[in-house]
Amino acid sequence: MAKLIDGKKLAQITTDNLKSEIEDLKKKNVFPALAVIVVGENPASKIYVKNKHRIAESIGIKSIVKKLPDTTSEKELLNLINEYNDNSDINGILVQLPLPNQINEKKITEAIKPEKDVDGFHPINIGRLAMNDPLAIPCTPLGIMRMFNAYNIDLDGKNAVVVGRSNIVGKPMAALLLNANATVTITHSHTKNLAEITKQADILVVAIGQANFIKKADVKQSAVVIDVGMNRLDSGKLAGDVDKEVAEVAGYLTPVPKGVGPMTIAMLMEQTIELTKRSVGIE
Ligand code: GUN
Repeated sequence: MAKLIDGKKLAQITTDNLKSEIEDLKKKNVFPALAVIVVGENPASKIYVKNKHRIAESIGIKSIVKKLPDTTSEKELLNLINEYNDNSDINGILVQLPLPNQINEKKITEAIKPEKDVDGFHPINIGRLAMNDPLAIPCTPLGIMRMFNAYNIDLDGKNAVVVGRSNIVGKPMAALLLNANATVTITHSHTKNLAEITKQADILVVAIGQANFIKKADVKQSAVVIDVGMNRLDSGKLAGDVDKEVAEVAGYLTPVPKGVGPMTIAMLMEQTIELTKRSVGIE
């Protein structure tokens, strides 16, 4: 049976450490602040934003949550981002995705100053990651790298397969794995003979957004399997992208919930602190 990777516990340790670091910063008159903007009424977004706010406040990061109506124009959102860009009291800016149709996601992502882009979604930050000289890194893949590290999972020379090619998870995950000297394959909805590829994986990261998509037969014995999925079933239950039966063959597996999710938020906090320190010239 697979050993479960305890994302919740690891996230707790991470945020506990950040809490004492923030106390030290405050003694130096540095007060980290994160601005989160959410547009519209997406129920999942509302839960994510609430959790981010709660955790930020609990460790001493000032959290400003700006809720805008569904009818907000692109111009109005851009104006708010510019206001936060210019406000030196704000160290990190996050616009929760998805956005309503009248707003162009690309324009919004590009409007956030790269040095305040806690999500690491700005093209400059994606480019720096691709060149292995990162500034801010997308939080979900960064949290997954921390899990490998915490469980002493070696990536050097390993076959890593990423299922899914989103800008938020799949692509930056592949870049991080490559930077860590894994041999990386990205698969997606057009991939032929997917199972043949996933079965070669020593490290399998699944971010495809389909409940229980990866089955036992798709996984190599003792592989490390990371499940990024958060799928709400008709029953109201939460399911990952990886079927529970995979635990019978995998060496390591992340649970859903309490796996990748809590680490994403912990990395958001960590990057807020890193960007804050950078803005005041503390290493
Ligand atoms: N929507 C789903 N995941 C994320 C994330 O990591 N950041 C933002 N901004 N929006 C999201």
